[in-house]
Amino acid sequence: MTKILHIDSSLKGEGSNTRKLSAAIVAKLGGDVTYRDLVKSDLTPVNEALFGAYYTPAADRSAEQKASLAQSDELLAEIFAADVIVIGAPMYNFSVSSHLKLYIDLVARVGETFAYTETGPKGLLEGKKVYFAVATGGTPIGSPVDQLVPTLKTIFGFFGITDQTVIDASDGMAVDPEATMAKAFATIDALAA
Ligand SMILES: Cc1cc2nc3c(=O)[nH]c(=O)nc-3n(C[C@H](O)[C@H](O)[C@H](O)COP(=O)(O)O)c2cc1C
Repeated sequence: MTKILHIDSSLKGEGSNTRKLSAAIVAKLGGDVTYRDLVKSDLTPVNEALFGAYYTPAADRSAEQKASLAQSDELLAEIFAADVIVIGAPMYNFSVSSHLKLYIDLVARVGETFAYTETGPKGLLEGKKVYFAVATGGTPIGSPVDQLVPTLKTIFGFFGITDQTVIDASDGMAVDPEATMAKAFATIDALAA
């Protein structure tokens, strides 16, 4: 059975459009689902000591460094175990939410999700697929001010996940949100299960 990691990052609860879209994608795909709500996860902000631990070889890490990596290790275990990752990603101030950015900072780890090679950086999560369920208040995805989808595509591409699908509820949200959401749900409906 396909293993799905379902991630949400909207500050809103039931009224969240990205939560509705990510749930619809997961329901359409079907599989063995692990759910991660980044807003309820109480993730600790990254700091110099944590980044120091990232770059310390595992065998040389102090007990304190190992303890500091616990949250990051847990998130890594989830993403390693997944075949498919579905991410609800609201546009906040033209970019990713702070919760999703912190998640990215906690899983972008040298020797784990990417490595440096003689030919440049190489993603270590090859073979997985990612769906981005994005919603905005009207800013069109793909417009010059959209920093959300380019960020997501870049970082997950950097991890080696090049099979990427964007479900987009953006252009039209300020005028006719029902129609824009209906279009996004229709796109999800047309996805191969
Ligand atoms: C803090 C904040 C910042 C936002 N910034 C933008 C923005 O830059 N552009 C935009 O089109 N909509 C913006 N919005 C609107 C959200 O993108 C919109 O409400 C979208 O539905 C969020 O996804 P959600 O419904 O899953 O929370 C912002 C909303 C909030 C709460």
